[in-house]
Amino acid sequence: MASLKSKKLKSIPAEITVPGDKSISHRSAMFAGMAKGTTVIDGFLPSEDCLCTVHAMQALGATMEPLEEVPGIGLVKLAITGNGMKLKAPEKPVDCGNSGTTIRLLSGILAGQDFKTELFGDESLSRRPMKRVADPLGQMGAKITGQGEKICAPLTVDGGSLKPIYYKLPVASAQVKSAVLLAGLFAPGKTTVVEPVPTRNHTERLFSHFGIKWLREDDCVSVYGGQEPRATDIIVPGDISSAAFWMVAAAATPGAQITLKNVGLNPTRTGIITVLLRMGAQVSSSETHSDGEPRGNIVVKGGDLNATVIGGAEIPNVIDELPILAVAAALARGKTLIRDASELRVKETDRIAAVAGHLRAMGVTVTEHPDGMEIEGGAKLQGATLPSFGDHRIAMAFLVAGMFAEGTTTLEGSECIATSYPGFERHLDLFLNGDTGDRPIPVMSDIPQQLAAKLSQKAP
Ligand code: S3P
Repeated sequence: MASLKSKKLKSIPAEITVPGDKSISHRSAMFAGMAKGTTVIDGFLPSEDCLCTVHAMQALGATMEPLEEVPGIGLVKLAITGNGMKLKAPEKPVDCGNSGTTIRLLSGILAGQDFKTELFGDESLSRRPMKRVADPLGQMGAKITGQGEKICAPLTVDGGSLKPIYYKLPVASAQVKSAVLLAGLFAPGKTTVVEPVPTRNHTERLFSHFGIKWLREDDCVSVYGGQEPRATDIIVPGDISSAAFWMVAAAATPGAQITLKNVGLNPTRTGIITVLLRMGAQVSSSETHSDGEPRGNIVVKGGDLNATVIGGAEIPNVIDELPILAVAAALARGKTLIRDASELRVKETDRIAAVAGHLRAMGVTVTEHPDGMEIEGGAKLQGATLPSFGDHRIAMAFLVAGMFAEGTTTLEGSECIATSYPGFERHLDLFLNGDTGDRPIPVMSDIPQQLAAKLSQKAP
């Protein structure tokens, strides 16, 4: 088992370029794999999760050509060639690794295929509820079977001809919304998903990018079946959920300033900026590109942070940032309340229990609630040895917490970070040891293109 150590931070680097957005990378690979022709995806996130999606699309008949590899990060530019929406039955069960997005969105695509597919994942993924996609896809006419009441992986998706549905999401989930909308492409007529509160809209934006017509009316998102994505090259912005770790590190350091470059600024994802502003940090963003997925730079200036309340409709917008926002709360003056966030209990691990336990181990007073927690800010943090629970965001959040603690913080099981942030360790090193100039910093846009011949072997 790998571990990483953190200690009091030495300096805040002036700039960081984080790798590509996970949600958009997954979806780009799926759409490209369903489009006839070749789509070049630039800024792709070569994390374990997203590579699972690429391998899955290859197993379903798409081909992939690697175009550019960045040392220490991986394949950031690739071409995917699909043969249209009628996919090929895979020869063996498809491995979704740790990735909820892969298994749930793929279930939507497979629901419309006239073959049976088995989908499996790691221990953490196999504990997560898939009933939330099995139910609506079942109403559309697919048969999805899994383990136990929660219909956990391994799953069998028995697809076929689908009928459109009008589906009210019981939980605010972009993954479920996307699974239903993707299945809707295979159903004649109008498939509608009603969202209790808005969730990330990358699927909808990619529909537009790939030439698929869809509509939003109030809280309803609809798509008409029978449309096929048109191969169209795409640029993936940096992942604001990865930038969030460094945004908090800078925000909690008086006098610090950092620029996060080329980050996705989709308003359904920028809740972290709103929350940090409310906590008293100085945060500004400037859009450099506003077509498709907006992207640009975020500048954070550090200062004394104040407690806040995070809840309600804001939760889906910051759902992946709540572990690092909980760390920010521990560093702020006053008591922060996180509520309406029971979804955290069904992420890669139970993130309410994990965050509360780890903050307590570092000397913070935390009261756990079924849907969140109260965090007493301002205690002196003590270094601790903490398990990752196989959850990348828990690992990264507490390595950042370690930058504000006395002594050393050891994060055990740090290999899970590769599921979303290849290159994290090098970026962490910049904070812990300063930029001595002798360690290359992987900045995607600065690295000349190179054909990654060694990656051209077929995926498993
Ligand atoms: C994601 C949606 C969110 C998020 C996950 C990625 C997506 O999950 O937590 O990391 O790409 O659609 P839910 O849809 O389960 O809320």
